Amino acid sequence: MAVRRSKPESRVMPRVRRTLTELGYVEGVDFLYEVEIRYGTGRLYADAVLYDGDVPLAVIEAEGHASALRTGFEEARLKAVAFHPEDPVPLLWVAAGKQNQCYLAQSPEHQLGVRYAPVEVPPERLFHPDALLASIQAYLQRQGAASGAELRYREQLYQAFHQLAGDAHQRCQQVVNALTPAPGAKPPRRQPKPLKAITQLLTSATRSGSNFELAYALRWLMRPYFRPATKGKQNPVRQLGRYLTPMEVIRLVVDAVDPQPNETVLDLACGTGGFLLQTARRLIERHSTSPQAIAANLYGYDYDSTCVRLAQASLALGLGIEFSNLPHMRQWNSLQPPSADAFDIVISNPPAGEIPQEMLPENWELPIAVPNLYEAVFLVRAVQLARAGGRIGLILPEGLLAGARFRRLRQWLVEQAHVRKVISLPRRLFPFTPSKMSAILMEKRSDSSRGRGALFAALEGTISAVG
Ligand SMILES: C[S@@+](CC[C@H](N)C(=O)[O-])C[C@H]1O[C@@H](n2cnc3c(N)ncnc32)[C@H](O)[C@@H]1O
Repeated sequence: MAVRRSKPESRVMPRVRRTLTELGYVEGVDFLYEVEIRYGTGRLYADAVLYDGDVPLAVIEAEGHASALRTGFEEARLKAVAFHPEDPVPLLWVAAGKQNQCYLAQSPEHQLGVRYAPVEVPPERLFHPDALLASIQAYLQRQGAASGAELRYREQLYQAFHQLAGDAHQRCQQVVNALTPAPGAKPPRRQPKPLKAITQLLTSATRSGSNFELAYALRWLMRPYFRPATKGKQNPVRQLGRYLTPMEVIRLVVDAVDPQPNETVLDLACGTGGFLLQTARRLIERHSTSPQAIAANLYGYDYDSTCVRLAQASLALGLGIEFSNLPHMRQWNSLQPPSADAFDIVISNPPAGEIPQEMLPENWELPIAVPNLYEAVFLVRAVQLARAGGRIGLILPEGLLAGARFRRLRQWLVEQAHVRKVISLPRRLFPFTPSKMSAILMEKRSDSSRGRGALFAALEGTISAVG
């Protein structure tokens, strides 16, 4: 089917964007524009789609005039069905001129085919996270997006989060600071009520045992911290290449490296701690490993201290242990030459972008504008940090795996490790990165060469001097 690829309606889309942003959804994470939907041999393009992870929740159509409401509905409906013919996207929002009309899919048991009924509630109420989760809970569970318990926790956390003062980053930081104060920081004398509600929910849960649903709900709540709050390159999110790794990518990598009890696992750019959290869950579910034994073997490094503490808090919730019982989570610049190099497993989604100048170790001279150099250095560091025979799972841009500039790096890599699998990931999974990403799975060779010059050897020609 040939379908015109039209630009989203330029007068109406800003209104949609404003509504979604005010409701706390994060552009590029929770909603995307001009989403391609494959339909048989053809392609359709939705003006915008609201997601939960990679599960589409709502198709949004923008039309220039109120008179196009009906056409907009037909288009949105077609796209919702094209996404998932067996279980179509449950919510439609047609924004036509100044008008809005939302539609909800009717429960499939009662009729053949798919029927959408108009909802007489404006989008700012229907799309409010609480109302949204309640109206499409059954769909989310069918899609495996989140368990019922996780959804309930999200609702509770979000209700309080929404009432916190400050922008989305400041709210995230308030939550993390309340859970695990920054080193040297004095705990505030009085906590605002909503913050108290969040900490009470989270801390009381650690006393009642392992709770991965709550840990995932906290990770969900912290999404805005991984999205730039301002435009342009001069903001910490872009500078640190900080973006969330989708849970389905994390699962793929963790399943592939298959952590065993007593193995040490490192994520050298741990962010929310997603890879370590999934490792912990798998060890409990598959091997009944005790939370304490798991905690003793998990290592998470991140340059950003809020991320380290967030990862620590998520793991503590997941494992049902005190935050302080995770001894190896640390604020660290992983560009530094490693001081230890014997991890059984190294898994990570390295930062993307240009390496910030102030982060470079003293004696480095890097042409910092080389694309993918950040990821290249992390790849070398990950290989250095694994023990001989250890498994390595990384998310890397294809430029690194196929581009001419990194030929020497790949040569070095196959001398150091057996590359077991390269899995190409769909483009839409990482909305902020123009690069196509892949998961690469390796096993470090037992005869791999050690030594401080490894980075230079790997990146010879790309960099001129490193320690
Ligand atoms: C792509 S994110 C990882 C996201 C993580 N996998 C998750 O889903 O939560 C990359 C992380 O690397 C961190 N980072 C950037 N530069 C770093 C450095 N030099 N050393 C350690 N961590 C760094 C960022 O703060 C960010 O949290």
